[in-house]
Amino acid sequence: MTKGNCVAIIGTGFVGSSYAFALMNQGIADELIMIDINQEKALGDVMDLNHGKVFAPDLTHIRYGTYEDCIHADLVVICAGANQKQGETRLDLVEKNLKIFKSIVESVMASGFDGIFLVATNPVDILTYATWKYSGLPKERVIGSGTILDTARFRYMLGDYFNVAPNNVHAYIIGEHGDSELPVYSLADVGGVPVLKMIDRDRRYSREDLDDIFVQVRDSAYEIIMSKGATYYGIAMGLVRLTKAILRNENTILTVSTYLEGEYGEKDVYIGVPAIVNRDGIREIVELELNEEEQHLFHHSAETINNILKPYF
Ligand code: LAC
Repeated sequence: MTKGNCVAIIGTGFVGSSYAFALMNQGIADELIMIDINQEKALGDVMDLNHGKVFAPDLTHIRYGTYEDCIHADLVVICAGANQKQGETRLDLVEKNLKIFKSIVESVMASGFDGIFLVATNPVDILTYATWKYSGLPKERVIGSGTILDTARFRYMLGDYFNVAPNNVHAYIIGEHGDSELPVYSLADVGGVPVLKMIDRDRRYSREDLDDIFVQVRDSAYEIIMSKGATYYGIAMGLVRLTKAILRNENTILTVSTYLEGEYGEKDVYIGVPAIVNRDGIREIVELELNEEEQHLFHHSAETINNILKPYF
């Protein structure tokens, strides 16, 4: 592992501490700095994680830190903010989380930080746009988790449906990380066989089932929040995957929230699309050939984000 892979986590609540735990168990970073307004909690997490150090595959140096320490970080991952409660949509969190983000990003930048921001807090597309604006960093170096988890849920559920490993399912969820996201069924395949071909060839499968699977993906967070109050393991693992793609300079394609300047016919919006991710952040946006319905739904999703965002910027 390249020396000097230092990650600072801001917000060590459910998502932040699960991300730290997953990062340590996968041995991705050399150093992990845990930052939270609740210093006691962050110190407790640092102690708890360090006590498991001997069991981890690689030695990750974990410590408590403050905003000043962000100058040492290659990556600052923001998990802080209010999270969705039962009956709330992600967009309901805008007002309170924008205020929190302004103070967080300004404090990080005051440290002299010049790396990459990863944003996980919801509504993630809007808060990633805000982080880009507040930080003044180039758009390539401000990335939101976007639909990385939605795509993972989609691949998992399609794999279950077709009885194949999810890694052999290539399918994207794009758009808002939220109720207006959309499945790109026209380009989905299982081991190279288009999914839309599979439902034609085999009566066991149907379009209705595929539509049901998408609804389950879109509404997963509501279901998990209903049963355990919050979601954190899936998103934490998605953030680790994204962290690995950056720190290992992988050029991996992931559906992250990134800034569009005309791609997919949309401008001045952060939204979930497939993008090539490496050490420099977003290398390139992958522009899919969407069918007419998918293009219409994607435009609606971008509009949904902008209708909420524009009054603030
Ligand atoms: C979810 C949260 C991360 O989709 O928005 O589980």
